[in-house]
Amino acid sequence: MATAARTTRIDRVLRPVHRWVWRDGGRRVRKLLAFAEVETDGGRDILRAAEVTPDPLLRRLYLAHAIDELHHGVLFRERGAELLRARADGASALFNGNPLPGGHGLDDVSIEGEADARLLAFLHVAEKAAAGRFLIYRDLVADDPATHAIFEEILRDEVFHMNYTYTQLARISPRTYRREVWLARLSRVWKRVLRLAAAVGALMGSAFLTVLYFVVLPPFAWLARRAAKREPAGWAPISARTDAPPTSQY
Ligand SMILES: [Fe+2]
Ligand SMILES: [Fe+2]
Repeated sequence: MATAARTTRIDRVLRPVHRWVWRDGGRRVRKLLAFAEVETDGGRDILRAAEVTPDPLLRRLYLAHAIDELHHGVLFRERGAELLRARADGASALFNGNPLPGGHGLDDVSIEGEADARLLAFLHVAEKAAAGRFLIYRDLVADDPATHAIFEEILRDEVFHMNYTYTQLARISPRTYRREVWLARLSRVWKRVLRLAAAVGALMGSAFLTVLYFVVLPPFAWLARRAAKREPAGWAPISARTDAPPTSQY
């Protein structure tokens, strides 16, 4: 059953944020270079999956998949580098970070000790998310034909990855494949929640330390300054102690 790429509701809601991210040249370069890393890492992991799977058909498919992802990494890296060179001014925007998760999510993949069914379910969910997101990105870079063409090409591959992983999952787990996909979806959502919680925790930690610095520390600084004023300036004579041995430091 071949399915076309579809954007999720949350990505449709976040479309203005995606547009804001891609509008700026600096952010665009950073995004492309970040994608290059994720695609290359994902390609290496899937290559490892091809080595360890006992299933000959899956080995061939994983291998083709890994080659695609490594190729995506090269496309993104080269385009990112080209745009970087073209940015002669090297200006940095007010905020160059990326508030949204990356396109692929293959960075979460774990191969060692993973059964093929779980891996295929994970890959299917990740590829589906990537295909939906690359669909948005492709439209948002319509002003940049070279980057647009890269997304167009990669999107075709991601749709193939999304479909073959589902077909193969249904082949090797005909009774439980739907459940596997749901579990993979839940695990992906849970990882997102944990990441969000970690980000919120870091933000709250910074806010708390700032409050501590400006509210709690000043009274102590004031007390220390007041105590310092009472101290005589310069050297102070020590009390004469006759019982102290001459070799004592005090
Ligand atoms: Fe990819
Ligand atoms: Fe992919």
